[in-house]
Amino acid sequence: MPTTVRDVRAKAGEEPITMLTAYDAPAATMVDEAGIDVILVGDSVGNAALGHDSTLPVTVDEMASHTAAVARGTEDALVVADMPFLSIGTSREASVENAGRMLKEADADAVKIESGPHTVELTDQLVDLGIPVMAHLGLTPQRVKELGGYTRQGTDEESAREILDLAHAHEDAGAFSLVLEHVPANLAARVTEELSIPTIGIGAGPEVDGQVLVYNDVVGLSERPPPFAEQFGDARSEIERAVEGYKDAVESGEYPAEEHSHYAEDLEELY
Ligand code: KIV
Ligand code: NA
Repeated sequence: MPTTVRDVRAKAGEEPITMLTAYDAPAATMVDEAGIDVILVGDSVGNAALGHDSTLPVTVDEMASHTAAVARGTEDALVVADMPFLSIGTSREASVENAGRMLKEADADAVKIESGPHTVELTDQLVDLGIPVMAHLGLTPQRVKELGGYTRQGTDEESAREILDLAHAHEDAGAFSLVLEHVPANLAARVTEELSIPTIGIGAGPEVDGQVLVYNDVVGLSERPPPFAEQFGDARSEIERAVEGYKDAVESGEYPAEEHSHYAEDLEELY
């Protein structure tokens, strides 16, 4: 049964919400069949799949393409498309058009927006138009140039208060959930206690309504996973083993064998 934003909201406080990224159809199918509640097509696709060293170069077209692939590979999970750098917040028209593409063209169920004071009104407008919004506070990697690095956020009284206030503002604007990234566990706990929408943490401790991680970090495909990520598998070794095995078998003549080949009797006279 397809998951809706209402299902996600209803799960908060009852059972932990599970969320994981995916960027293509086969990965989405595996994540979906594992029973993950929410699949995020993160702009982390820039690092995880497109070879960039930040999320800044990722385009709306790329997000639409990867989101469509994930949606095609997904039956049950809620599919959330991340809005890439400068695709929202510049003008209302451009923001609505770009967010709308993720639902109209790419079959996403919702969009995620790196939030700030500039996204409160926009969140309200998108929700009014029928585009569910997942907010995102704490470390917002699209602001890496301005922040000076992928640093912890909300570590002093003033910045923690700002995150708490923005969390309330986005709940009031109609966001159906909120990602909290790389913030102190006690701040995330406080936000979770005060909000009625689900909080989904990444590097935000255990006292939230759900967790999200990047697929590549979880399966063991990342070169440099962030400190808060846990590797639950070693896909890199498995893939390397398979590729080396293929290379060795071609070089040694073991592949292709009799069972991989076919011969046509009609070609007898060629000999
Ligand atoms: O792009 C992404 O993968 C994200 C998650 C880490 C929350 O925004
Ligand atoms: Na992101």
